[in-house]
Amino acid sequence: MRVAIGCDHGGIDLKNTVISVLKELGHDVDDQGCNSTDSVDYPNFAKSVSSLVNDGKCDCGILICGTGIGMSMAANRVPGIRAALCNEMFSAKMSREHNDANILCLGARVIGPGLAAEIVKTWMTSEFAGGRHQRRIDMF
Ligand code: RB5
Repeated sequence: MRVAIGCDHGGIDLKNTVISVLKELGHDVDDQGCNSTDSVDYPNFAKSVSSLVNDGKCDCGILICGTGIGMSMAANRVPGIRAALCNEMFSAKMSREHNDANILCLGARVIGPGLAAEIVKTWMTSEFAGGRHQRRIDMF
């Protein structure tokens, strides 16, 4: 799959970890930045990644900020985006199976690289269950 990824200044180290994990899994990565620790505004990166996903240029996206909260709020304002903030694996699995999440948000100041890697692996390998869950998604 082609995965768009973005972060703010709080998420750079974790973004690099996640990029390594994605490449190990055989995915192509479209890195939208940022790439320095200078303070930036996370909505810009949420919009870039969300647009790539909504336009079909990427299959899914991953956004990382300090908590993951701002990224998830901003991404969910973009039409067609179902962004899920998952800082543990059960939510990561369910966000794919029940919510067909197309963007995963992570909090770099909340979780460490080991847990983040497992969350990404779980999220990338879980599949949407469809059925009643599709009906519910169609309601919003
Ligand atoms: C940046 O300091 C911080 O606000 C941001 O990374 C994120 O946690 C916002 O939700």
